[in-house]
Amino acid sequence: MNRWTDDLLCGVDEIDEQHRQLFELIQNISNCIINSENQKALNEAFAFLEFYVTRHFTIEEHYMSSYHYSGYAEHKAEHIHFMEDFMDLKSFSKNNEPHPNLAVELEGSLYHWLAIHFTSFDREMCKFLKESVK
Ligand SMILES: [Fe+2]
Repeated sequence: MNRWTDDLLCGVDEIDEQHRQLFELIQNISNCIINSENQKALNEAFAFLEFYVTRHFTIEEHYMSSYHYSGYAEHKAEHIHFMEDFMDLKSFSKNNEPHPNLAVELEGSLYHWLAIHFTSFDREMCKFLKESVK
């Protein structure tokens, strides 16, 4: 099971709190599938994660652009890439009955992607932000 651990912290409380929340929202989707919740519940869980992750990326991008972060374009491209993968999973879930494979796919790809992103791109960005507001 992929759970949040403090190894994923980036060092900016607001961002870390949102990251923790993202893990919970993915867990909600996974639970919906494992507990064979209906399609409506699953669609709602996906819709809320989409709303939350979009908002979270917008906040990070706002900070990067406000502080003229040199890694902004590359970081934003990563966010776009994540959203493409996420939208594929979302439409797969909409067009198919909830299936354990989807839970495995979610755990495997979304958690993995986020964990790597948090500990590389986001950690670098947070380091920069903390230096910038000193
Ligand atoms: Fe990010």
